[in-house]
Amino acid sequence: LFAGETEFLKGVVAMNGLPDADRLEVCFAGRSNVGKSSLINALTGTKGIARASNTPGRTQEINFFTQGPELYLVDLPGYGYANAPLKVVEQWQKLLKRYLSGRQNLRRAFVLIDSRHGVKAVDAEIMKLLDSSAVTFQCVMTKADKVKEKDRAKVLEQVKDALSKHPAAYPEIVLTSSEKGDGIATLRSIIANL
Ligand code: GTP
Ligand code: MG
Repeated sequence: LFAGETEFLKGVVAMNGLPDADRLEVCFAGRSNVGKSSLINALTGTKGIARASNTPGRTQEINFFTQGPELYLVDLPGYGYANAPLKVVEQWQKLLKRYLSGRQNLRRAFVLIDSRHGVKAVDAEIMKLLDSSAVTFQCVMTKADKVKEKDRAKVLEQVKDALSKHPAAYPEIVLTSSEKGDGIATLRSIIANL
């Protein structure tokens, strides 16, 4: 499934711009700067296909990538980013929420959580939205290379505890580093098995 064949399809700013829901879709959600675009680059092995950046709020549209003929990978704008004009932020957030709650072919949402920070209130809010929309979501810990083994366990416990409150949560947590490649093969096979 991930042997090449990733192409950028389009960036979407309104619900009526979404491509036809004619194939399986997975999306990557998470706080601004958590590493969504980097993860898509690592998964697809195509450096730079999703725009990653040090500047939080880099991804401002819903970006669709085709992965072969059967799958869409979706890079979402980050949430919880306060430093953009309020009007702009409100617009992304509205679109994000509409997308997450109303996309028929969305098989799984990956909710990315920074391995250093754990689940924050804004993450829990998105998880609630996914619960109420009955979209199965799975947590992916990012930037695992930035934490020491012993600190990691503590954050993992916090995440597990947070997930237990969400009926739409898939229990397995995936630990990744887009930088070092940890967990990338695991995540690919999870997606392939959907
Ligand atoms: P927005 O589009 O702004 O919501 O951000 P994003 O979630 O797409 O994050 P992005 O992939 O742009 O990454 C943000 C920053 O984190 C970049 O400087 C990346 O290089 C860095 N980063 C992402 N993943 C990793 C990782 O696994 N390890 C390390 N060390 N840095 C990472
Ligand atoms: Mg991004």
